[in-house]
Amino acid sequence: MAWKNDQVSLKETEYIIDSATSALEIEGDFVELGCYRGDTSLCLAEVVEKYNKNLQNTSDEPVENSGENLARKLWIYDSFEGLPEKNREDESVLGKEFVSGALGVTKREVKERFLKAGLKVPIIKKAWFNELTSDDMPEKIAFAFLDGDFYGSIKDSLNLVTPLMTSGGVILAHDYNNLALPGVKKAVDEWLTGKNVKTEVFETLIKITIKN
Ligand SMILES: C[S@@+](CC[C@H](N)C(=O)[O-])C[C@H]1O[C@@H](n2cnc3c(N)ncnc32)[C@H](O)[C@@H]1O
Repeated sequence: MAWKNDQVSLKETEYIIDSATSALEIEGDFVELGCYRGDTSLCLAEVVEKYNKNLQNTSDEPVENSGENLARKLWIYDSFEGLPEKNREDESVLGKEFVSGALGVTKREVKERFLKAGLKVPIIKKAWFNELTSDDMPEKIAFAFLDGDFYGSIKDSLNLVTPLMTSGGVILAHDYNNLALPGVKKAVDEWLTGKNVKTEVFETLIKITIKN
């Protein structure tokens, strides 16, 4: 189900759900950096929960060294203090409403939305992305949704998830083609230089599939 979302369009939400569902074939957990109120996180939680329930019903013996019969977890991250300061890469006449402190919600509000929806509460971490280390992350990531709006936030997110991505795993960054948030494209394009990946742009999303 695509939860009502004022940050991501319905078409984009469906694309995110499809991409996340395909990533279930890959070993690793799911992460979202920049969860805000948790609208996309609720969709991802449903994908993960459906998969895990199915696994409980069908799995017999665990297969050694294979991720295919492991339950997936969802990890979500946010400052819960809203957006940080912009860098010069983020400046745009179209993006005046994106200011430091905008989009602030509390961790408790997000947790309560999962409880209300009857979904398992994900691992929720409150931090600025540049404070996070690999200790705060899953060991392996199959699917990463990056929605931090700004140059520094996307750059920090990419640096965090890159070494943890499984081969065949997917990174989806939001606002790639959003002229109001030019720092996102700048950070992603810088990161893409020299990388062995496959990319696809859909609306304002860029999907990056890791090849090795
Ligand atoms: C556009 S909202 C995310 C929307 C959400 N993904 C959804 O689909 O509903 C961006 C979020 O990223 C968070 N954020 C941006 N930069 C951050 C940073 N550097 N560290 C931590 N949180 C950050 C903001 O607090 C905000 O909640």
